[in-house]
Amino acid sequence: MRLEGKKAIVTGGAGGIGRATSLAFAAEGASVAVVDLNADAAQAVADEIRAAGGTAVAIAADVSSEPDIERVVATAQQELGGIDVVFNNAGIIRRTTAVETSVEEWDRVFGVNVRAIFLMCKHVVPIMAAAGGGSIVNTGSGWGLKGGGQAISYCASKGAVVNMTRALAIDHGPQGIRVNSVNPGDVDTGMLRDEARQLGQDQAGFLAEAAERPLNRMGQPSEIAAAVVWLASDDSSYVTGSALVVDGGGIA
Ligand code: NAI
Repeated sequence: MRLEGKKAIVTGGAGGIGRATSLAFAAEGASVAVVDLNADAAQAVADEIRAAGGTAVAIAADVSSEPDIERVVATAQQELGGIDVVFNNAGIIRRTTAVETSVEEWDRVFGVNVRAIFLMCKHVVPIMAAAGGGSIVNTGSGWGLKGGGQAISYCASKGAVVNMTRALAIDHGPQGIRVNSVNPGDVDTGMLRDEARQLGQDQAGFLAEAAERPLNRMGQPSEIAAAVVWLASDDSSYVTGSALVVDGGGIA
């Protein structure tokens, strides 16, 4: 029970990695606020946690909106009794080059992938600081470290996540708040299938290509969740500002 008594917010908590991490947090003893744009799916994850004997609340929200973030933080604080851990994980991808990307799409990707993390930290850091500290984990991507093709807004946004994480760690370390990014390779979630659709590619072929890496398979959401549990817990008490890569060896 590495998160016994901790209160945690998970954004994108209804999706592949977010759901797995919400369940893993709860299994380690944390109370969890499952935040997602998809209200029904967030409720289903909270119900799953409660059915297993844990404590969870579902909060429907668009994390790119400041009023929504303020409501999420207030609700989590009220329902859980504090906030010790935040997993800023909601994300979207658009598989387009610079030439193909509209300003609206660029802004949407940055709104969800970058602004949301800034907003969450803006509102949650004072609460953590007043309580003596906390752990924030942000989902970057292998493509935020090395880049990738036909995903200009996504690669730029995830690069921003990695460096914003370092800046947050510098600013708030003295307040006892650790901030790290987890950077997955290809993980078997709805996002990968959506990418195949966006690129007009055969799904099976796309997934087979995603599995081409030293460990010879895609990652599972639970394998990212395991890394996030470690970063969230006191087991990583001297780790901050780091970019942890969890990718089956896919990033050279
Ligand atoms: P997913 O599509 O299964 O889950 C994403 C979740 O975020 C969904 O439940 C969605 O409803 C939610 N969401 C989207 N926009 C939102 C918004 N504005 N407000 C609140 N919730 C919102 O995708 P997956 O794979 O679980 O992705 C989670 C994170 O992992 C993302 O940040 C993604 O960029 C990152 N990632 C995923 C990789 C993969 O191969 N699946 C690889 C590297 C990074």
